[in-house]
Amino acid sequence: MNLIAANWKMNKTVKEALKFFNDLNSKTDEFADNEVLICPSFLALSEISKIKHEKIKLGAQNFYFEDSGAYTGETSLLILKGFCEYVLVGHSERRSIFKEPNQLVNKKVLAALNHHFKPILCIGETGDERQKNKTNEVLSQQLKACLKGVSENQIKNLVVAYEPVWAIGTGKNATSAMAQEVHEFIREVLTDMYSQTTARQLKLLYGGSVKPDNAKDLIAQEDINGFLIGGASLEVESFVEIINAAK
Ligand code: PGA
Repeated sequence: MNLIAANWKMNKTVKEALKFFNDLNSKTDEFADNEVLICPSFLALSEISKIKHEKIKLGAQNFYFEDSGAYTGETSLLILKGFCEYVLVGHSERRSIFKEPNQLVNKKVLAALNHHFKPILCIGETGDERQKNKTNEVLSQQLKACLKGVSENQIKNLVVAYEPVWAIGTGKNATSAMAQEVHEFIREVLTDMYSQTTARQLKLLYGGSVKPDNAKDLIAQEDINGFLIGGASLEVESFVEIINAAK
């Protein structure tokens, strides 16, 4: 079963989000065997969660690792409980714009797992790092630092999303061969950290300019088990086309 996840980022008013969700909710018979996930803004998440949605999962785009306290502007997992099943962690926009280092991402991963959420841990190299042939080194460092203290039992509830920073929102996706090579490497690192059985079971998503026209080639790769989609998840039509491509 592939996981097709929408990351709406800071887009859609609550009204627009509800319209999209109701539209999508009427097309769930087209999802086949795919698990479909929407990560809206917090306000839209609260409203959407009131709609009956058996075949669409919900996720939050961010949270803080503490349960409560003097953290102005933040939302905790305690507050999110009951609203969603998944949480995004370590998205490159959180890392670059909001300066979230691996250590903070690690705290968030541990908090999410302890609170029984399913974290989607995002990792990826910049264009500069790829040019300098540092892709594997960067990804391995990110995995080791962000998964510090995560047990073999816990990792089973986690999803890894490989999102090359140079491909996010740029229209320049990694080719399916490039993405497969990296996904295979990620699975090797996870095999070293845990075991082959566990690493094989983990879902590895690709993200970065996934569109209806490149989705089929990407999902055909052995180690690609789904997508994390930004731009193309904002229209029901293109999102459903991608879900269909992943059948
Ligand atoms: P994109 O974004 O599909 O617009 O490249 C992907 C992401 O940031 O998760």
